[in-house]
Amino acid sequence: MRTAIYPGTFDPVTRGHLDIIARAAQMFDRVVVTVAVNSAKSPMFTTDERLTLVRAAVKEARLPNVTAEAFSGLLVNFARKKKASALIRGLRAVSDFEYEFQMALMNRKLAPKITTVFLMPHEKYTYLNSSIVREVARLGGDVTDLVPAAVARALQQKLKHR
Ligand code: COA
Repeated sequence: MRTAIYPGTFDPVTRGHLDIIARAAQMFDRVVVTVAVNSAKSPMFTTDERLTLVRAAVKEARLPNVTAEAFSGLLVNFARKKKASALIRGLRAVSDFEYEFQMALMNRKLAPKITTVFLMPHEKYTYLNSSIVREVARLGGDVTDLVPAAVARALQQKLKHR
């Protein structure tokens, strides 16, 4: 049983993330999408909301070998607990590389048996990130092509109550 962890803040999960999740689901027996609790960012959505949205997106995409969980603390400890052999990260552009390289090497130092695997999302998602999605939604732009349907609805709801 080969298990991979796909960690991130997912505030909120986008079609770009989902593209990576689907690719990882083809390569591994089980993929655990892990929503970071202790992020340095101050998320728009609570941990529970981000988790619910990841689960809805995975269901919508019909990916039966993908589950989602929240985690806090050191990522490699969570990965060990799940008996994962790989950490998945998406690389969209060269600008992602330095940060990702640093994180991958640090995780390898902490847990030499866990390998970081970089996947490229479809090029139509190269410009996408969660901040851009939140900003477009906040300013009344259409985000339906950028996020799963459940996320588009959640953004609308969240912004209505602001
Ligand atoms: N499509 C669209 N957007 C993508 C994407 C893709 N395929 N891949 C990444 N992104 C975006 C995210 O939306 C996010 O955008 P934002 O900054 O506008 O919100 C950005 O790229 C990077 O975020 P994300 O992939 O969620 O990673 P992160 O940097 O927020 O999360 C953790 C990093 C949580 C994995 C990392 O901090 C961690 O492991 N923390 C645990 C503590 C730990 O172990 N630390 C030691 C690590 S060496």
